[in-house]
Amino acid sequence: MADIKDQIKAIKESCLSKISSAKTPQEIENIRLKFLGRKGTLTLILRSIKNLTESQRPRIGALANSVRKELERVIEDKNETLGRKKVIPTVDLTLPSRRYRVGRSHLISRTIKELVDIFTGFGFEVALGNEIETEFYNFEALNMPADHPARDMQDTLYLPKGYLLRTHTSPVQIRYMESHKPPIRMMAPGRVYREEDINASHLPLFYQLEGLMVDKGVRFSDLKGILEFAVKRLFSKDLKVRFRPSFFPFTEPSAEMDIECPHCRNKGCNVCGYKGWLEILGAGMVDPNVYKSVGYDKYDVSGFAFGMGIERIAMIRHRITDIRLFYTGDIRFLTSI
Ligand code: DAH
Repeated sequence: MADIKDQIKAIKESCLSKISSAKTPQEIENIRLKFLGRKGTLTLILRSIKNLTESQRPRIGALANSVRKELERVIEDKNETLGRKKVIPTVDLTLPSRRYRVGRSHLISRTIKELVDIFTGFGFEVALGNEIETEFYNFEALNMPADHPARDMQDTLYLPKGYLLRTHTSPVQIRYMESHKPPIRMMAPGRVYREEDINASHLPLFYQLEGLMVDKGVRFSDLKGILEFAVKRLFSKDLKVRFRPSFFPFTEPSAEMDIECPHCRNKGCNVCGYKGWLEILGAGMVDPNVYKSVGYDKYDVSGFAFGMGIERIAMIRHRITDIRLFYTGDIRFLTSI
């Protein structure tokens, strides 16, 4: 008898002290379960009261019940104190209003615009072709007949009726020459498509800028001069550039242009793959066979053409190491460039 009374008192003391040191509603709930839950210590005592003698039952029952009520009340009070602390409404009228972000052009659009501005300065005008092209414009007229091995490197989606997704912006050269007489200076920015496995440096869709200048007496030195000037405008005046011999079916001779890595200035870093140089465009003197397909007289005119990847230029300038970032819409990337 005295035993069970002591137990009830001990439960009460222990529960009260736990409640007073509890700091979260979760802690309180755990305490409630431990003492008053279905298998709580006090609950078990209340349940065992029916086993007591008739004379013991009323007094012990009353004691246990009053302890239970008291504990419930203390728990409720404590919960209220904890809850109240959290929701004290405060409005600080001196805070600045919430910032909102203003949208802006995508880096690809801005890079195209910059390139267009630079070449506009040389008298080049923008021409737009079609993203859905025919084999003739995409390959044949560019001196890449059906069995030409260069077609392998530019596989694409072939559509019904002999159409395909263009693999480069070079077909715009053909369309432009068909509808314009020399002298011409044109540039064609736009989307191109290739069968590629997606990784940090390849996507099946990307952008290029094509350029073409045809006139009487255009020489390789014009190609070098204009491209060197343009690229220096884009990067920096004192950047070294170099031309390497290369091959494209639609130019002869052909070249690739490299720039000194603008980040390490030829010392080697992770942007240039520790090579010091970065390839940035392909170019060359228009092949006489190309003039034949557009009806120009190859003895009367000469010219040069070039093609560059827009993403590549933007990646080099902004130290972007994954081309997929341009197209996955991650706001952290979009606001960082
Ligand atoms: N069309 C080429 C490509 O996509 C790039 C290119 C190289 C374009 C040389 C040109 C050129 O106009 O002269 O790989």
